Amino acid sequence: MPAQTDALTPLPPERSPWSLKRWWLRFRNGRLMDPGFQAWAASFPLTRGIAKARARQLFDIAVGFSYARILSACVELNVFEQLRDGPLTTTAMAGRLGLSPERARTLLKAAASLQLLEAVEADSFALGELGAALLGNPGLPEMIRHHSLLYQDLMDPVALLRDTAGPTAVGGYWPYAEGRPPGPDTAPEIAAYSSLMGKTQAMIAGHVIAAYDFSRHRALMDVGGGEGVFLSEVAKMVPNLNLTLFDLPGVADRARTRFAEQGLADRAQTIAGSFKEQPLPLGADAISFVRVLHDHDDAPVAHLLRAAHAALPPGGTLVIAEPLAQTPGAEPMGHGYFGMYLLAMGSGRPRTADELIAMTRDAGFRSARLVPGRAPLLVQLIVAVA
Ligand SMILES: C[S@@+](CC[C@H](N)C(=O)[O-])C[C@H]1O[C@@H](n2cnc3c(N)ncnc32)[C@H](O)[C@@H]1O
Repeated sequence: MPAQTDALTPLPPERSPWSLKRWWLRFRNGRLMDPGFQAWAASFPLTRGIAKARARQLFDIAVGFSYARILSACVELNVFEQLRDGPLTTTAMAGRLGLSPERARTLLKAAASLQLLEAVEADSFALGELGAALLGNPGLPEMIRHHSLLYQDLMDPVALLRDTAGPTAVGGYWPYAEGRPPGPDTAPEIAAYSSLMGKTQAMIAGHVIAAYDFSRHRALMDVGGGEGVFLSEVAKMVPNLNLTLFDLPGVADRARTRFAEQGLADRAQTIAGSFKEQPLPLGADAISFVRVLHDHDDAPVAHLLRAAHAALPPGGTLVIAEPLAQTPGAEPMGHGYFGMYLLAMGSGRPRTADELIAMTRDAGFRSARLVPGRAPLLVQLIVAVA
């Protein structure tokens, strides 16, 4: 097994371009794993602060599952909504949450320790900074509820990694990830995921529109456009843009109904189909993929990028909008969150900006660049020109 031998046998330092880095890692990690050094660093005035911060970081990672479940209980019990209009006493909250006062106090204090709530005078609680911010993002509680599925799948992370866990809850939620065709059997799942995407798209669309000016185009086709929330938001900002939504049959039907309800039927057409099985329709001078590519493995993404290139005229633009791996300041979102989510889903992977740019070039696009969004934790753009 040569690959294994390579992995286990370090390169001789003089032949490795990483020799200095390796030396530093060996030195640093040797100190950090030494209990004597740890005790010294925790007491020495110049390192005390760093040691405390690192201990807190490690603690947060170790018990993060507990934080996530406190948040889940708050969302499930509508804690934040109850406090929207101002502080309430624990007794008043207990009645509203259907908990005993002691249990309500346990939850409220736990949430306050995470800044979701804030303790105020006389056994009362108000929204904390994070709880108030959460109320400003109606899609977030939906996503937090949805995460109960991922939580189930991560109960035995090693089984998930070894592929011995059997069918996953997240995989069952997304029929296209399991290759189940749209039809009567998958209609409930299609309705559920399309509704979730529609509700959470509201957090995304504004950032995409702020980062890229669609008014320079004549016609935009949003591929994998879901219920059409993104196109509706673009329609508000760019009145003369011709709009097309392409998605799987059950989803495109939902978008058509929604466009009709919003008075957009004459501007926005919907086309039902699968980008895995048919070419993309011609006619748009801009194509967008919003939160689409990371759901798919490399071969279908390469195919889809070639299909977008073939559907665009020379000079036409492809806008890829999704959260990117290794985004500075948002590193855990990429491989830490999406890496595990997509593993549970059974399809796709988080990609870096460089990886996506290279893939667009391989698909024939002549230039591609990263357009950093104002909320990089949620979405960034790769803009490529055909
Ligand atoms: C994660 S959702 C994103 C939806 C929307 N763009 C958004 O950001 O809210 C991915 C979308 O891709 C669509 N999709 C998946 N496989 C597809 C295929 N083979 N052909 C067309 N659409 C597909 C799904 O139906 C779904 O609407």
